[in-house]
Amino acid sequence: MPTDTGTATGTLAAGAAQPLLHQHGHEIHRFGTVKQLPIGLSHDTRLYACRRLNRILADTQMLHGLYKKHHWLMRGATFHQLHLLLDAHAGEQLALVDDLAERVQSLGGVAVGDPRHAAEITRIPRPPDGAEEVPAMLSRLLEAHEVILMEARDAAVRLTEFGDDGSNDLIVSSVIRTGEKQVWFLVEHLVDTPLVRL
Ligand SMILES: [Fe+2]
Repeated sequence: MPTDTGTATGTLAAGAAQPLLHQHGHEIHRFGTVKQLPIGLSHDTRLYACRRLNRILADTQMLHGLYKKHHWLMRGATFHQLHLLLDAHAGEQLALVDDLAERVQSLGGVAVGDPRHAAEITRIPRPPDGAEEVPAMLSRLLEAHEVILMEARDAAVRLTEFGDDGSNDLIVSSVIRTGEKQVWFLVEHLVDTPLVRL
């Protein structure tokens, strides 16, 4: 039986419709550099903004992963409620990942895209591969949020000083406000209060 997929004969037979497979090339835009763009922000400002945004992006990718991990590994009497809540928060963090990455691109930079790259940059501690007790999993999420919120507050102030109001707006309106609300929803699960009193 003829097997012409990917062969020279097959390419000739398909003509111009044949996709050019297995193409390899040079890296054309190095991470940590920015292109010149006509958006009224200096090269140095955009370079600085991309560095701050990429750090928040890497941390946010890790937080998203933590939320999914704990969504899957949740257990106990409040399993279903927390299972759903953590997935909702994961979805919101994933939206932030996209917004942050596209902000980096719109500033002429290169967004952290590979999770292995993000893992090299992030300052959020790696969890154990197994499951922890429920309060420990919730505390781990809260601590990850605080890493991001502290970084985000500092970055927002600095970026405003440099005139990058767009990045400031994204960080304040999306990263900080989403993070603060998610912290509120999580932290109330750690209040030791009974449903009824005897
Ligand atoms: Fe799920």
